[in-house]
Amino acid sequence: MPSSPLTSAEIAALHQRATEAARNSYSPYSHFRVGAAILLHADARQPGEISTGTNVENASYRLTTCAEQAAIAAAVSLYGPAIRIRAVAVVNLNGAACMPCGACRQTILEFSAAETAIFYPSATGETVSTTLATLLPAAFRLTPE
Ligand code: THU
Repeated sequence: MPSSPLTSAEIAALHQRATEAARNSYSPYSHFRVGAAILLHADARQPGEISTGTNVENASYRLTTCAEQAAIAAAVSLYGPAIRIRAVAVVNLNGAACMPCGACRQTILEFSAAETAIFYPSATGETVSTTLATLLPAAFRLTPE
């Protein structure tokens, strides 16, 4: 799916929506409040929508859901299984660097292309823009391409 560069308004909207989601974080164990926003490719049925998610932890720690996974589950629930992701923004309210974890990269890949844009806060606090292919260069795929 062809992807035009994101406008600064689109990037700002993603950042804003991710920050709003992070405020709802359920993170009593790590206290690390994460929000993710994903911009979907527009299709015949809908304009490019934004879905959001936050991390939801559990006393049985490994059952925790990451913000990115929650955002993707929300998008599929709202818009169906054909969604395609144009961009993802991850933020946290802890002022920390926060790249999508390995599991989230693989989850993002399921609905993305190599050039899907990923925005995340670096160690210096500024937002870094990269692509999914850069973050997950040797992804697992069920069928060879
Ligand atoms: N977390 C995310 O939500 N996304 C990531 O990509 C990495 C980690 C959450 C999971 C857990 O609730 C907290 O951050 C600390 O690991």
